[in-house]
Amino acid sequence: MKNSVQMVEILPSLLSADFARLGQQIAQVESAGASMLHVDVMDGHFVPNLTMGTPVVQSIRKITKNHLDVHLMITNPDAFVPVFIEAGADSVSVHQEVCPHLDRTLKLIQSGGAKAGVVLNPSTPVSTLTEVLDVVDFVLIMSVNPGFGGQKFLPNSLQKIRQLAEMRDRRNLNFPIEIDGGVGASNLVDIVRAGAEWLVAGNSIFGAPDPGAAFSALRQTAREALHPVA
Ligand code: DX5
Ligand code: ZN
Repeated sequence: MKNSVQMVEILPSLLSADFARLGQQIAQVESAGASMLHVDVMDGHFVPNLTMGTPVVQSIRKITKNHLDVHLMITNPDAFVPVFIEAGADSVSVHQEVCPHLDRTLKLIQSGGAKAGVVLNPSTPVSTLTEVLDVVDFVLIMSVNPGFGGQKFLPNSLQKIRQLAEMRDRRNLNFPIEIDGGVGASNLVDIVRAGAEWLVAGNSIFGAPDPGAAFSALRQTAREALHPVA
């Protein structure tokens, strides 16, 4: 199947990094070529885990010019979107499941000057996005139940990527599809061929002995999947 968006990016997910050496770990993936970093914000309500807030994003902003992709796993994103943009987020994604006024929330993100993304839990159908596809800057499909790094990829996510890519192409839209959870060497080719472009990888990068080398290997696999050598 032809993808309308052609570039693939691997986004190291900092949740799996060693927080005591965060700057060093970021430098490792950036020197291997990472140009986007994924930041998971969890509130202990929407998901059963707590992670980082705006002070961490501010600190990361000071040490990188690269794209900071902030994934909000919180019940009241509208209250926090402005402060995360102020802290330095280049893109902010919010969960469909907690946004009764999703159109308004996406426009709130865009009005702050960031790219607006919407995230779907594994149990939320792609069809729930029909009315906002011409507003979004990107869509994130969760391939694990959000809350923790290092979980197993849910294979049904491939079908959701294909479905979304078809909807996008049919409507002549051009937003990237992001995938998050359990992404690694064993499923990367299938994910890219299904139509995803922004591939978040936590454990498969920071769980490796050399995160920079792990990043490079994943990026190579993803590029070959997009443009197979004959
Ligand atoms: C899970 C987070 C992910 C997580 C991915 O709720 O949204 O970004 O860090 O980690 P891996 O790649 O280890 O599944
Ligand atoms: Zn995430």
